[in-house]
Amino acid sequence: MDSFLIKGGVPLHGEVTISGAKNAVLPIMAATLLTPEPCVIRRVPNLSDVHFMAQILEWLGAKVKFEGDTVRVEARKIRGQGDYDLVRKMRGSICILGPLLGRLRKARVSLPGGCVIGARPINLHLKGVEALGAKIRIEAGYVEATARRLAGSAMFLGGRAGSTVLGTANVMMAAALAEGITVIESAACEPEVVDLANFLNAMGARVAGAGSPTVTITGVKQLHGAEHEVIPDRIEAATFAIAAGATNGEVTLKGARADQMHAVIDKLNEAGVRVERRGANLLVRRDGRLKPADVTTLPYAGFPTDVQAQMMALMTLTPGISIITERIFESRFMHVSELARLGADIEIEGPSAIVKGGKPLSGAPVMASDLRASAALVVAGLAAKGTTQVNRVYHIDRGYENIDGKLRQLGARIQRIEES
Ligand code: EPU
Repeated sequence: MDSFLIKGGVPLHGEVTISGAKNAVLPIMAATLLTPEPCVIRRVPNLSDVHFMAQILEWLGAKVKFEGDTVRVEARKIRGQGDYDLVRKMRGSICILGPLLGRLRKARVSLPGGCVIGARPINLHLKGVEALGAKIRIEAGYVEATARRLAGSAMFLGGRAGSTVLGTANVMMAAALAEGITVIESAACEPEVVDLANFLNAMGARVAGAGSPTVTITGVKQLHGAEHEVIPDRIEAATFAIAAGATNGEVTLKGARADQMHAVIDKLNEAGVRVERRGANLLVRRDGRLKPADVTTLPYAGFPTDVQAQMMALMTLTPGISIITERIFESRFMHVSELARLGADIEIEGPSAIVKGGKPLSGAPVMASDLRASAALVVAGLAAKGTTQVNRVYHIDRGYENIDGKLRQLGARIQRIEES
């Protein structure tokens, strides 16, 4: 298993190009199952999760071809059952449920398990497709959805933590080929949902209102092939912005979309990290000393849970007390004990982490537990004195394209130790 060796204390300087968004490209790749015609997806990040999704599509019968950052998918003939182990391994692969059901009127997909960040149920996905007329059976670890016909319907998809991103995506994709009109209330408003809606509309679907809590889908008989460019990854951009602030550097995020990052930019400005638009880019630099900030994660347009861990790493460097409250995933604090190894003082109180920041961090061996926790450890390692070894970086390769290469380009002393 590969690890990173980071010699901290070097301010990051220069330009970094933001890759396509992981959480947009995964459902978009799944959506190609809705048509037998070829689809072309551009600005696809080179991530293990993307290759994993490609394997799932191939297993289902699609042809998938990568050319640089373009992927061509042709799902001329497909089957309705995903390979048990392939699907189970990546939580994001649940988003093949909606397209399989829409196209074939049947889908058999292994139940995604919980993961280190929380329970991750799919009750809202099932509620949504049931409202369209699907019958659901859970059997031998599979969720089986079948429908003689799919009919548009009005539904409420809010759950205990608010909206669901992939649940909204699944219903949108199934409803695109249902008869009549579907209205999703309490739909997820994330930019990745909007990107999927744009792709579906390019395929001939009729999705309106994406980006708002009410999404209306007017079913059509069939969809055709389409081309699409994936939005830049707002979580990757936020991670580099935080790394720039944490190391007291100055970094230009090429292609980052300020209009999709309001909550993060607002909090960073409050914390003393200035983020300014420069044409199509964002310029990030420190604005004097770091200041404590209180952060609560919320569905979009609130502060993203996927940036909580990295923000906590920044707050450990900030003199004073910061409170970070996690409202989306109940156990998303696995990074706390690892940040403590670097000298951070953090206490967990229910859904909140109380960060007493400002003591210098010092390098140590740490263990990545999930994607964003790993990113937080890299940020902390870049700011810490001495050497930090981040083990199990396969987590980070799932969702950050060439993060070590990009950081080196900004002057970081980070090295990948490859192990067989
Ligand atoms: N939830 C339910 N029932 C459901 C679905 C979700 O109660 O049927 C709850 C979840 O337990 C959670 C909340 O609703 O408390 C939000 O979960 P959501 O369904 O929105 O998460 P997701 O769609 O499974 C995506 C991203 C995650 C990101 C979340 C929240 C992908 C592939 N994954 O997951 O990304 O954290 O939305 O924004 O799009 C990551 O990139 O590191 C990551 C975990």
